[in-house]
Amino acid sequence: MERLIVTGGTPLRGSIAVSGAKNAILPIMAASLLSESRVVLEGVPFLKDVQTMKETLESLGAKIKLTGDTIEVNPSGLHSQEVPSSLARRMRASNLVMGPLLGRFGTFKASYPGGCTIGSRPMDLHIKGFEALGAKIDEDHGYIKAEAAKLKGTEIHLDFPSVGATENIMMAATLAEGTTIIRNAAREPEIVDLQNYLNKMGARIRGAGMDSIRIDGVKKLNREISYRVIPDRIETGTFMVAAAITRGELVIENAIPEHVEAVTAKLREAGVQVREEDDRIIVKGSPVWKGLDIRTMPFPGFPTDMQPQMMVFLCLAQGTSIITENIFENRYRHVGELRRMGGQIQLEGRSAIIKGVPRLTGTVVEATDLRAGAALVLGGLAAENTTVIEGVHHLDRGYGNLEERLRMLGAQIYRETNLS
Ligand code: UD1
Repeated sequence: MERLIVTGGTPLRGSIAVSGAKNAILPIMAASLLSESRVVLEGVPFLKDVQTMKETLESLGAKIKLTGDTIEVNPSGLHSQEVPSSLARRMRASNLVMGPLLGRFGTFKASYPGGCTIGSRPMDLHIKGFEALGAKIDEDHGYIKAEAAKLKGTEIHLDFPSVGATENIMMAATLAEGTTIIRNAAREPEIVDLQNYLNKMGARIRGAGMDSIRIDGVKKLNREISYRVIPDRIETGTFMVAAAITRGELVIENAIPEHVEAVTAKLREAGVQVREEDDRIIVKGSPVWKGLDIRTMPFPGFPTDMQPQMMVFLCLAQGTSIITENIFENRYRHVGELRRMGGQIQLEGRSAIIKGVPRLTGTVVEATDLRAGAALVLGGLAAENTTVIEGVHHLDRGYGNLEERLRMLGAQIYRETNLS
């Protein structure tokens, strides 16, 4: 067991570079299974989830070399289409190998994926997409099995713009015969990054970033390429809130301002100064800030992955705020922990009503999922006294070297390891 000890009250100052995006590198690593050639990925973040994806690809027979922030994937020795359940259960994104395996080999077997416990997170949209492309799916004893003699392009209308389903269908359709059109597709920047990567390998895809994506099937992908992933917009947003909540000033480098417009708009509405310059964002906290009304939505709406971090910020706002979570039905597990720190939050169905308080106070809290953990770190940085955060392994899934990087900005945060 490890825990983070945070002593709050220091305004964060300085400059910090954002890492490559977790939600871009995971599908991109999975998409490498579609290629017959070696690929090199750059800007790879140092995360547990990347390690899990590495082990997943290795279990299928890929050879992977991870050096610093570069990963080389050599898929030439692939020999298995079955994802070990120990890996599938470790993270939801392990489901992203299904599309590439189906596309390349016409088959896969995988157990239902695990990941953050933020909602039921079914797989129905992925499965409907695979079936529409011509696969026969069997669901049995917690496993999903797919078989297809040949995948054929078709039109698929998603009931909801699911990020994972859009990516899985794109990847499966890349080597299908004919044209596939995904309507009501997710528009997240990570989908655009996946399209750019696949096209660089030789795929023919356009429309990512809009709600219709067209995939013209190709026979094979065999270009040796190198590719740099986009910066992580959720890490960017988390640092933006860190500057605001500690009333500090941060220069956030290697950012794409358009990817965090929804966060920028809300921080500005609260009274925080945010300046955008090419690939950097400068955030200057204000002594006091106003409450907000926030609804999480698919991109370009306010991201659900920033909801917990924004909630802790609003705990310290003037007046009452409302957050409505429209993406995941169970994404309020941080509420109980924030209450322990003095947050005044009422839950009513999908909404959280937050009455601003003048201060939060440190105590022992538990990170129940990745972004809940980020919210508790932010709360600890702003709180009086010392906050002890348990469940740190959740944070390590999505933030690399978080405490070292925060310390460089003046934060008092360290990790206790080897606790019995
Ligand atoms: C991805 C992100 C995650 C983010 C989420 C929403 C990755 C690796 N993870 O997760 O960080 O929080 O997008 O922005 O990119 N749904 C169904 N049936 C399905 C699939 C999804 O009902 O077959 C529902 C889910 O239960 C959820 C909603 O659709 O309520 C959104 O899920 P989805 O967009 O698929 O999220 P993920 O791809 O799992």
